[in-house]
Order: sequence, then structure tokens, then C-alpha cells
Amino acid sequence: MSQPMATIAKPASAATDRLVARANQIRETEMRRLLERTPGSARLFERAKKILPFGVVSSFQKMEPYPIYLSHGKGSQVWDQDGHGYRDFHGGFGAMVVGHAHPRIVEAVHEASSRGTHFAVTTEEAVAYGEELCRRFNFEMIRFANSGTEATMDAIRVARAATGRDVICKIEGSYHGHHDAVMFSVVPNADVMGGRDRPAKAPVSKGLVKDAHKYIEVVPFNDAGSLEKLFAQRANEIACIILEPVMMNIGLVLPQPGYLEQVRELCTRYGVVMIYDEVKTGVTIAAGGATERFRVQPDLACLAKAVAGGLPGAAFGGRGDLMRLIERGVSQMGTYNGNPLVAHVGLVTLKEILTPAAYAYLAKLGARLAGGCQKAIDKYNIPAHTVDLGAKGCVSYRPQPMKNYRDFLDTLPEIFGASYPWLLNRGIFMTPGDEEQWTLSIQHTEADVDTYLEVFAEFCRELTA
Ligand SMILES: Cc1ncc(COP(=O)(O)O)c(C=O)c1O
Repeated sequence: MSQPMATIAKPASAATDRLVARANQIRETEMRRLLERTPGSARLFERAKKILPFGVVSSFQKMEPYPIYLSHGKGSQVWDQDGHGYRDFHGGFGAMVVGHAHPRIVEAVHEASSRGTHFAVTTEEAVAYGEELCRRFNFEMIRFANSGTEATMDAIRVARAATGRDVICKIEGSYHGHHDAVMFSVVPNADVMGGRDRPAKAPVSKGLVKDAHKYIEVVPFNDAGSLEKLFAQRANEIACIILEPVMMNIGLVLPQPGYLEQVRELCTRYGVVMIYDEVKTGVTIAAGGATERFRVQPDLACLAKAVAGGLPGAAFGGRGDLMRLIERGVSQMGTYNGNPLVAHVGLVTLKEILTPAAYAYLAKLGARLAGGCQKAIDKYNIPAHTVDLGAKGCVSYRPQPMKNYRDFLDTLPEIFGASYPWLLNRGIFMTPGDEEQWTLSIQHTEADVDTYLEVFAEFCRELTA
């Protein structure tokens, strides 16, 4: 199992200032170049923004001055509106571990669509798909949904019903979807984040129910002491803690040894339901996600993104006694839940594509990419580190690995700001923000990884030139 790679010492602040100034220069030059290369995206933006807020289909996709729109993808590559090809390390925000237009997925879509894509009646394949997810994640029971948002919303409802308690506890700086209950402390600005031990409940959106904040508590990641203090004070009101076992919306933050075990013990001791949000970790960092990788079993876990081979599928599951509450008054429904198209493609993905050999391959690619980036970081003495979890990995511009959200505030966003157009202009498609990470697919090759490494090494050289 991979661990964070070696780190280097943080440079003196004058050196950091020089680096930031250089990053800003690079960004200016590269953004100018990017805008010159992408008139097709600029035109589509003008059209799209008339009907779509920010000109995009989800606010996570917005970008200044306009997003780079894609037309299609195949294998490890995507093409933009102007016809430029890119090696894709964005991976549809972590969903595309099968790569684009995988021949077996294309075939599976044809197979399912020729038999009818939707009945709103459970099919045998939906049962088989559920059985495979139960096997991978040690669930006793499962239910399907259509997005990560729905999966976390439903799991929280089950937890509230099970405990008769209303308050949910989440980790500072984590994202669990866009329903009201979890729209707090996602990427809070330093001026509103409150004290370290008991972070503020900074809302992420307007339009939330006015007293929604009364039903949330926020704790720092990797800090069982703060959690214990909170449970000691309020456990009789707390239904659940929802956490990503590896924080994945600020780069990658690994659980410290023993942390997940401590959370498990505290939840058991205080009767709080432990919910893993495995929307990003599930079936990416191991066949059974973080549950398998870190060997701590939650009460419930939420799955989405990569579990459905690039189709909009999701699920949550876990302890049978909790899931059976759905038979005793907890509402969980959805017209498209586990529909035949998603169930067939999901099953093919899990049974035929994301096999043990696939995970071994992804581990090899991930180690090559993270190891190569770290080599360049070390060579040019960039204040950064890499994290490698197989299909998922990242470079974060901070010398030491992060332990929690507050550490993320030490990263240098200017370097991310420069790296994004630099990579794009050289044929590497990455996520636009400083909060994401790369996703590798089974269709990526060592040549794809080596191209990334060449471009990244040039970036590091340029940054320190
Ligand atoms: C950890 C995590 N949970 C939940 C969600 C919400 O999933 P969806 O966008 O499918 O609603 C996301 C989306 O990025 C996520 O990263």
C-alpha cells in the first residue's frame, strides 16, 4: 500500500515570495496563451451563459474567464471545443476510472439500451450489482441512488431514524454533496472558520433553511480528541458522523495511523452512526475503497462516481439493522434508482474491468506518476509533496503532508494557478482548482504518465528559473 512520498524542507519566505511572483508571471503568460488557443470555448461560453448560470451545468465547473468545454473523449484522452486533444487526468472529477468510451462499456450500454433502459421495477442485474457492492464493502444491505448527494442524504436520514437524534457531525473542509444538511464548512475562508478544536459552521450557500446550522457540528480531521470532547458534551443529540476516510476535496489528506479506529471506537461507545463518504474513495483506491484499504468498518458507507463506470449511479449500504429501517418507516426512493442501464454498466465495470489485475495496474501507474512528480519537486526544490493512492493522487504545494483542512491553507494557490494553464497548454487536462487531485484510468498508459511527468518537470524548472 502506498504512503505519502518524501517531502522537502519549506524554503525561506523570501524564496517563497520569489516563487509566488514567478508563478503569477507564468500564469499570466499561460492564461493569455490558453485564451488564444480556445476561441471555440469562448464562443460556447457566450452561448451557454444565456441559459445556464455561469455557463455550466454544475457550479463546480465554472472557471474564469470561461471554462474549457470538451466535445468528446476516448481512452485516456479528451478533446476540447477547438479540437485540441489532451491526456485526461481530470477523470470527470474521479468518476472515469474505466477511461473514456471503453469498448466494453460502449458494448454494455448498447446491450442494456437494446433491452430497455428503464422500468422502475427491480431487475436481476440490479440485485447482482448490489451483491457485488455488498461483497466489496462488507455491506449487509444496500440501496441505490443517482448521485453522491442523494446517497449521503439518505444515509444521514437512516442514521437519524436509528438514533432518534437530529444533529450530524462532519469534518471541517469536507464536501458531501449539496443538500442542506451538509452544506457547512466545505472550504471555509480563514476569517470565518472559527477555532481549531471546534471549527465554525460556515454555510456554503444562500438559501439554506435558516436554522440548518443548529443540526450540524464540525470537527477537524485526524483529531479524535476533539471528537471525543464533542461526543462527551452532545452525543445524546448526535445521530452520526459523516467523514471521508481520506479527505479528497483539498488534494488528498490521509488518515493518521489509528485515527479511523478511534472514530470507530468513539461511535460505538456513544451510539453514534459512523458513515463513510466513499463517493471518491470507493472502488478507486482499492476494490473495496477505503473500507478495504484501511480496514475499519463503518456502520454505513456512501458510494457514487466510479462505481457506475461513468454513468450516473450511486448507492449506500452497511449494517442490516440500520438498512432495514427502510422497511420500517424511513423513506428511500427514486424513479431511476438502480435502473437497468446503470445496473448493467455498473456490474460490467466491477466484474470485468475493475478486476484485481486492474488495481495492480493502477497502483503501478500511480506510483510512477507520484514518484516522478516527487523527483521533479526534489530536483527543483519546490515546496510541495505528492500523495499516491493508486488511481488517485496529487501534488500539493506545501512541503509536509496535510493532516487536516487548516494545513491546506498553507498551500500556495498561486502555484496551482500557474500549473493549470501550463498543463493545459501542453496537452494535459487537469481539474481547474487547487482542491482536486488526478484520477488515473485503466486505459492510461505509462506513456501518458511520462508525458505528464515531462510537462510537470518543465513547469518546476520554469518556476525556479
Ligand atoms: C466526497 C464527496 N461526497 C459527495 C459528493 C457529491 O456527489 P455528487 O456530485 O454525485 O452529488 C462529492 C462530489 O464531488 C464528493 O466528492
